[in-house]
Amino acid sequence: MRIAVVGGSGQIARLLHPLLVAAGHQPVALVRSESQRTALEALGAEVRLLDIENSDVAGFATAFAGCAAVVFSAGGGPDGNIDRKRTVDLEGSLKSSAAAQSLGIQRFVQVSAIDVDHPVSPDAPAVWAAYVAAKRDADTALRDSPLDWTILRPGRLTDDPPTGRVALGPAVARGDVTRADVAAAVAAVVGDARTVGRQWNLVGGDVPVAEAVSAAIAAG
Ligand SMILES: NC(=O)c1ccc[n+]([C@@H]2O[C@H](COP(=O)([O-])OP(=O)(O)OC[C@H]3O[C@@H](n4cnc5c(N)ncnc54)[C@H](OP(=O)(O)O)[C@@H]3O)[C@@H](O)[C@H]2O)c1
Repeated sequence: MRIAVVGGSGQIARLLHPLLVAAGHQPVALVRSESQRTALEALGAEVRLLDIENSDVAGFATAFAGCAAVVFSAGGGPDGNIDRKRTVDLEGSLKSSAAAQSLGIQRFVQVSAIDVDHPVSPDAPAVWAAYVAAKRDADTALRDSPLDWTILRPGRLTDDPPTGRVALGPAVARGDVTRADVAAAVAAVVGDARTVGRQWNLVGGDVPVAEAVSAAIAAG
């Protein structure tokens, strides 16, 4: 499959591209700066330009042309900008979903965040509340869409080396997980139709990624 990766220069995305290539897919990294092209092509990605905040659904559709699946792994990042939680994490996902639907692309994997359906403490920083709301609302909209979605909700991300082992399921408790293991989980689910309609928390654990995915599918 040719797979559009929104947030294609992100830290998880950069770990994901070689895994998709190894699985026989062609990642298409969607990025907002031409300067990111060379490094991403070296990882095996095809590179296309897409500024999430300054593109409409038609622009997203142009960027997704020829793709059979979309991975949404973008985010406003840790810059403390409340507006970018809405314009990137939420509206970027909504526009990705709408563009996929307009093109007849069914498969959509979203990298969300753990526990975003839980209420945020009233004394939480405003930027945290905005982040959780954006991820929560993006997930709700994707679940309500007609797409063949899978939502992965990682715990706190680390840059430790891959362990290849995770805990994954609808109610797995909060914990850390390496970005490399999240990338491995995305690569494991994107081509697996049995994961359609599943939303799983994802943290570091004891079970090899493929086994964890199969076990979560079997658990229903
Ligand atoms: N940090 C955590 O502990 C944690 C936990 C759970 C889930 N998550 C979520 O996991 C996801 C991926 O994490 P990560 O570490 O890979 O994130 P990341 O490295 O910050 O990647 C986010 C990507 O979004 C892109 N982006 C932001 N604004 C954009 C715009 N206007 N147009 C185009 N691209 C834009 C960034 O591009 P640029 O390179 O151009 O900025 C970057 O490539 C994020 O959604 C994050 O919220 C994070």
